[in-house]
Amino acid sequence: MFILHASSEIAPFAKTGGLGDVVGGIARPLEKLGHHVAAIMPLYRRVRDARRAMKVACEFNVKCGETTRRVRVWRTDIPDGEFFFVEQNELFDREGLYGGGMGDYPDNAERFSLFSRATLQAITTLKLPVDVIHAHDWQAALIPVYLKTTHAQNPALSRIRTLFTIHNLAYQGVFPSHFMHVAALDWSLFNWKKLEFWGSINFMKGGLVFADRITTVSPQYAREIQSRELGSGLEGVLKDRGADVSGILNGVDTEEWNPAKDKLIPARFTAADLKGKAACRAHLRRRRGLPESPAPLFGVVSRLVAQKGIDILVESLAEIVSMEAQVVILGQGDDALQRTLVAAAQRWPRQVAVQIGFDDRLAHEITAGADALLMPSRWEPCGLSQMYAQLYGTLPVVRRTGGLADSVVDGATGFVFEEAAMAGLVRGVRRAIEAWRSPATWGAMVQAAMKLDWSWERSAKEYAALYEKVVGVTRS
Ligand code: ADP
Ligand code: GLC
Repeated sequence: MFILHASSEIAPFAKTGGLGDVVGGIARPLEKLGHHVAAIMPLYRRVRDARRAMKVACEFNVKCGETTRRVRVWRTDIPDGEFFFVEQNELFDREGLYGGGMGDYPDNAERFSLFSRATLQAITTLKLPVDVIHAHDWQAALIPVYLKTTHAQNPALSRIRTLFTIHNLAYQGVFPSHFMHVAALDWSLFNWKKLEFWGSINFMKGGLVFADRITTVSPQYAREIQSRELGSGLEGVLKDRGADVSGILNGVDTEEWNPAKDKLIPARFTAADLKGKAACRAHLRRRRGLPESPAPLFGVVSRLVAQKGIDILVESLAEIVSMEAQVVILGQGDDALQRTLVAAAQRWPRQVAVQIGFDDRLAHEITAGADALLMPSRWEPCGLSQMYAQLYGTLPVVRRTGGLADSVVDGATGFVFEEAAMAGLVRGVRRAIEAWRSPATWGAMVQAAMKLDWSWERSAKEYAALYEKVVGVTRS
């Protein structure tokens, strides 16, 4: 089968979070199962600046309202797979992926509807024998919509079926209705059963209504999003499509996240020989300006947003500090959260270290050097950081939600707490510290966590089974 992934992020080219890791990681294991896998994403400035060897594959125009935009599609074959990049410099040659210091770019509806149409145009022009388009998140959610509406009569696309994956239902791509015209969508779609959402257009909703199958990134989150609490207003649509919705837990790239091979950390280690981990811990303390301590070192690597419960962490810091623990935090996001975290580091310089920014190396150093990792998420579709942590013998302390509930076994491979509130997190931290004080308990948990198999092979098999089902679907 020929599977084309369409995504706004693909690692190693560009990522802001787990989406990029996932789309970057899944290609090779699917190929190993005998599929032809390619992926397409926008050519952002940072992708172009990396100057990879690319060739122009095709060029065409895409109409965005009154404006005709010239699009060039580049192709690169690197050992990791076959990638296509949609070049449209007025829309994508920018510093950020979705926005800058002033917030989201105001033309994101135009940017990503163009990306979706360019994907279909590239398939047509290049005569790619695609069987399944696997579209990820709201940025690619219009692909299933176009396939069944504007592009329904295009014979080059008629065999294609779609799988749409929700990585985070909280980001839906909701835009003012006038973008219907820019996105070349017919007004007949602007009703509550299709694209309309409280008077606006909702890209994610379009994907949910029109895709042949829907997945999300953990079984637990697949259930949660059909409830009012975590359905973000789309629980009705998801319930209607309940028979076509399933959850497949993400895998992780065990080449990039492997303590025995990791070149970004100061010393390597395995479950059998943890000396390197002690060296990583000492290095992390030194680099972050934290002294040796009689209590464990907790790490946080996260987008600093409400989803991740960073405000709960901020509230809990005084208690955590009073237990003599240390916390090293890396993240970026919400301005106010950034400021309060920096203030906390100034208040407790021997116990709290904060680095604002996006830094791959430090992410690896924290994952390897910390004893435990904190993830007090309010919701977490899957979460990758807790799985990376486990593979590095860093026990995650997580809230029972989404993929965290599916990947951490309380008291065995980490610590799970219930409430998205300070009391829950503090209890989790206290339990972790108690376990840490018993080397036998802690050691057994570290061994269990490091032996977990989060490789992509398992998820790839589940996706492959779904692709088989999807190609059997008769186009409605
Ligand atoms: P999400 O996609 O919701 O942000 P995940 O846990 O799925 O959460 O994935 C987060 C990914 O982004 C991980 O690879 C994590 O290491 C990385 N990451 C998050 N914040 C940073 C940061 N400030 N610097 C480096 N890597 C980060
Ligand atoms: C989203 C989710 C995260 C998930 C990632 C990859 O960013 O917030 O939980 O791991 O997508 O699927």
